[in-house]
Amino acid sequence: MTTTNRKILVTSALPYANGAIHLGHLVEYIQTDIWVRFQKRRGHQCYYVCADDAHGTPIMLRAQLENISPEQLIARVYQEHRADFADFAIGFDNYHSTHSPENKLFATQIYQGLKASNQILRRTIRQAYDPVKQMFLPDRFIRGECPRCGVKDQYGDNCEACGATYAPTELKNPVSAVSGATPIEKESEHLFVDLANFEPMLREWTGSGALQHEVQHKLNEWFETGLQAWDISRDAPYFGFEIPEETLKYFYVWLDAPIGYIASFKNFCDKQQLDFDEFWKSDSQTELYHFIGKDIMYFHTLFWPALLTGGGFRKPTAVFVHGFLTVNGHKMSKSRGTFINARTYLNHLNPEYLRYYFAAKLGAGVEDVDLNLDDFVNRVNADLVGKVVNIASRCAGFITKRFHGQLAATLANPALYQEFIAKGELIAASYEMREYSKAVRDIMALADLANQYIDECKPWVLAKQEGKEAELQAVCSQGLNLFRVLLGYLAPILPVMAQTVENFLNATLPWQPEPLLSHTINPFQPLMQRVDKTQVEAMIADSTAGLANTTTPVAEKPTTPVAETPTVVQATKAAKLKPVVATTKSAVTSDAAVATITYDDFAKIDLRIAKIVNAEAVEGAEKLLRLTLEIGEAQPRTVFAGIKEAYSPEQLLGRLTVMVANLAPRKMRFGLSEGMVLAAGPGNTEIFLLQPDEGAKPGMKVK
Ligand code: MSP
Ligand code: ZN
Repeated sequence: MTTTNRKILVTSALPYANGAIHLGHLVEYIQTDIWVRFQKRRGHQCYYVCADDAHGTPIMLRAQLENISPEQLIARVYQEHRADFADFAIGFDNYHSTHSPENKLFATQIYQGLKASNQILRRTIRQAYDPVKQMFLPDRFIRGECPRCGVKDQYGDNCEACGATYAPTELKNPVSAVSGATPIEKESEHLFVDLANFEPMLREWTGSGALQHEVQHKLNEWFETGLQAWDISRDAPYFGFEIPEETLKYFYVWLDAPIGYIASFKNFCDKQQLDFDEFWKSDSQTELYHFIGKDIMYFHTLFWPALLTGGGFRKPTAVFVHGFLTVNGHKMSKSRGTFINARTYLNHLNPEYLRYYFAAKLGAGVEDVDLNLDDFVNRVNADLVGKVVNIASRCAGFITKRFHGQLAATLANPALYQEFIAKGELIAASYEMREYSKAVRDIMALADLANQYIDECKPWVLAKQEGKEAELQAVCSQGLNLFRVLLGYLAPILPVMAQTVENFLNATLPWQPEPLLSHTINPFQPLMQRVDKTQVEAMIADSTAGLANTTTPVAEKPTTPVAETPTVVQATKAAKLKPVVATTKSAVTSDAAVATITYDDFAKIDLRIAKIVNAEAVEGAEKLLRLTLEIGEAQPRTVFAGIKEAYSPEQLLGRLTVMVANLAPRKMRFGLSEGMVLAAGPGNTEIFLLQPDEGAKPGMKVK
């Protein structure tokens, strides 16, 4: 047991208050919660705070769509989020909201600090404006034709069909997703944080060991590109905090969002009479950690330390970045039923299955985490039920029935017990380093040893033999003591089961405990049911069923720049499954704009059946796969397709699809693209490659 008592403040990113918690989010909250529970078990003073991220245009518009006030919307979502987190045993010490007096205070204080030290710039910018709705439009709320490939109904900042990124002003025939009106351009003055001034501080901080290797590498790239001034103001109408001494200007949601970490902790300190300054003063000696996903790195590693410095606060000890959740090797997808909300999961499955599965897959890096549903079922059954619970269920009955619940007075195999205790330091080190998968491996190896011990001693045989009473009691007591050590190690991952086990063993579960001798336990209670594949199937069916009336919340995050590549011909809007932005449903009417073509025009298109003989990721391109297509010609074709988020390369190998074979080759950053493949769907994870019926052969013409 470590003797030094550390003081640690931990946060997870604040989920947006306009959408439900889903399994992707839970990677983060479960990862953080395990770490915090581990620290607490080790005797450290550790606090875990979070909040809803309640401001911004999407929340304002979502509330309008539902005909309620933003305050009503965020109050409802707050309750939903809290219930979801509680049911997944996420043990926040405090859960607050960015729409709170504390947050307003700190946001203002930090802004004033920046202003006083001349870090705030004013610049007039031209922006898209909705003349009907009378509001400036964030990029994500402008839709139009991609300037590169012409596909309709694309976002204002990037094309989901070809992956091009552009300014919203470049879109052809743009419409406001809010009102359907054609946006005009309008000037307005914005406030910026002069980030370049913070570069020396940022370079020092990022070099101080606060970041994972991969993250630091990314940051160096950003430094090389040069730090841009950061736009922190938005014009009315906006749901947020008004900027002091300005008229009708609000703080951009991403300014006050991270400040919500401070606000939530302050709210906690006021309730608990804790020393706030101890954790936030500039010279603080306590530890501060932020767990975040890889999509919000920029905000946390550049803007956030700058804000903290501006406000006279300390900087984070470290930012821990994790990857994204994939399900069965894909990005979560509504149409596949793998976009699973926390509540949908809870309606079918035990939350601790998922906590265990994520732990078994999580390391300290930024790689994506895959939830493979078959593997999930196997692993939970094999490890948790088959190995861990099995130890107790094989020993407990005898102790209860034959010995009035009393454990033996001495250990049958002290050496084996010591072996379990000795592993505690190694397992602790893995937790500390966020190498949970390694911790789980080591714990399961111990579970194997315990089962082996019971197999060899065969209590069920001893129970039938005369004069073996003492031996039977000794063996079962040994088994239960080993079980107790294991549950102590697993408790950060399985807090609910750990609680049940404490009740059953009538004892706490310290890390590396002294054995329980001559101790009375309570009757065994079932600890965990096997998971059945049909439960998982029902959950997927439920996630697909809700499709028609679910909406994807729009996030206030810039999309990562990607390469420009026209490769997927998308079906027209009529063929799309569902609009991606709820507010565009009635507003965008681009169907009417589909021009007719003559038969001759159509006949010019050489459509062929193509066999995908190779598919691979393209380095440096987030959405592209490089496909090698066999179309009955001497040389296969190379085509770059923006379908990486929807398909893994392995899935595509060998399958047939349809390609445009007479498209003029296009030179792209990654090489020459010699055609296009055909697919339908709104884009991102929801892209569906066309596939011919059986019998079609590569090279056949499509007529
Ligand atoms: N509101 C911002 C964060 C502000 S923090 C000052 C936000 N919210 S979010 O709801 O979109 O995401 C919350 C956290 O969940 C982020 O860290 C994000 O990376 C993480 N995840 C959201 N979807 C995820 C997956 N599919 N997989 C893994 N993590 C994901 O960003
Ligand atoms: Zn495009």
